[in-house]
Amino acid sequence: MEDKQFTTQFMAVLVILIGITIVILVIANFLYSSDSSAMDEEEQQLVAERIKPVGDVHIGSVPASEAAAPAAAAEATTMVASAELNGEAVYQQVCAACHTAGVLNAPKPGDTAAWEPRLAKGMDAMYANAINGIGAMPAKGGRADMSDEAIKAAVDYLLQ
Ligand code: HEC
Repeated sequence: MEDKQFTTQFMAVLVILIGITIVILVIANFLYSSDSSAMDEEEQQLVAERIKPVGDVHIGSVPASEAAAPAAAAEATTMVASAELNGEAVYQQVCAACHTAGVLNAPKPGDTAAWEPRLAKGMDAMYANAINGIGAMPAKGGRADMSDEAIKAAVDYLLQ
């Protein structure tokens, strides 16, 4: 008798729980589906625009927009390349941190007494030491990504 009563109650609880689950599912489904209009086409386009890669690979005909402005693009590339070779820019960006204030006893620009014995080694040694590092100075002032030419230009600027 007690077993039967238990079973009945247990079934009742089970049915109630299943009922609650279904209600929650229905509500969740309703809330979600009313929200799924969120991404309309215009928004999708905006997102695609924002997350598109910086560069495009074009195979085949050149799009009109680019065909019209190849010179401008080429000019921009040249500017970046020459900016890297601009001794002053490289010096300010990389070398000034140590050399302007003489950090770690880095010889300062215009400090003739500090530079004379170094210059006696010759310019090639100056370039090589700036590129490969010397004493407390890391190779290329710590900017391994810079080209040897950029570092040489910075040495020229530092020693002018
Ligand atoms: C982390 C600090 C630091 C940075 C950044 C740095 N230097 Fe130096 N540099 C030094 C120190 C210190 C010395 C002196 C090293 C020695 O003689 O022991 C030195 C020495 C030199 C010398 C003399 C080398 C020689 O043979 O006597 C040159 C040339 C030079 N640096 C160029 C540069 C250039 C160009 C840059 C930027 C690309 C640069 N340094 C960035 C710390 C730095």
